[in-house]
Amino acid sequence: MLAIPPRDRLIVALDVPSTADAEAMIGRLGGSVTFYKIGLQLIFAGGIELAKRLAGEGKQVFLDAKLLDIDNTVAGAVDSIARLGVTFLTLHAYPKAMRAAVAARGAAPLKLLGVTVLTSMDEADIAAAGYAGTVGDLVAARAGDARVAGMDGIVASPAEAAAIRQIVGPDMAIVTPGIRPAGSDAGDQKRIATPASAIRAGADYLVVGRPVTGAAEPRAAAEAIVAEIEAALA
Ligand code: C5P
Repeated sequence: MLAIPPRDRLIVALDVPSTADAEAMIGRLGGSVTFYKIGLQLIFAGGIELAKRLAGEGKQVFLDAKLLDIDNTVAGAVDSIARLGVTFLTLHAYPKAMRAAVAARGAAPLKLLGVTVLTSMDEADIAAAGYAGTVGDLVAARAGDARVAGMDGIVASPAEAAAIRQIVGPDMAIVTPGIRPAGSDAGDQKRIATPASAIRAGADYLVVGRPVTGAAEPRAAAEAIVAEIEAALA
């Protein structure tokens, strides 16, 4: 597990329709949150400018762009994104795309995370997409490919974190969504874990959306998760 302050391990997903909504939530969270995830919904609604602004204000930003394209295009995208000042970028964990991204990132501080198999996909979904074998096999193969390609981390469900840690070793970051504090609504997430159990399974960073942004008191919800992370690490 990487040596990261507990508060910096919480990444709040800004899954909102506009930068105005995002800025309002960031204002409510204040100093309780240091790391934000901007995904596809907000990327196409002004999220890139927001990412630059947040990075300029000293927040860390996870740009969840889930890139996959030909090598030349992936390399060009990574070169552009490395200039934004964001901390994390995702791409689908296909070997050629990962190698192109790692080469294009060069010495920039941008960290590259591989998405192995989307947590919304089950055995039937990967079979329908043309893959043989189980989800577990595919996750393990892609985690190994990410390590060989020189990626910095993996996005995975907490249920996969311990197995992935065995494959990637101690230095790659494991970033887990699907986090639900005890008593909170699962929503559409199926394979969920509490903040404490995800940390104990070997997650370095927890991505949390609705349990924070949908809470009556988002700041208190964030502080409670940070406290739970801190206790699990102790
Ligand atoms: O609201 P909730 O806590 O479920 O949000 C989880 C966030 O993590 C969302 O932004 C979702 O897109 C993202 N994510 C996920 N599962 C993955 C990859 C990303 O839930 N495998």
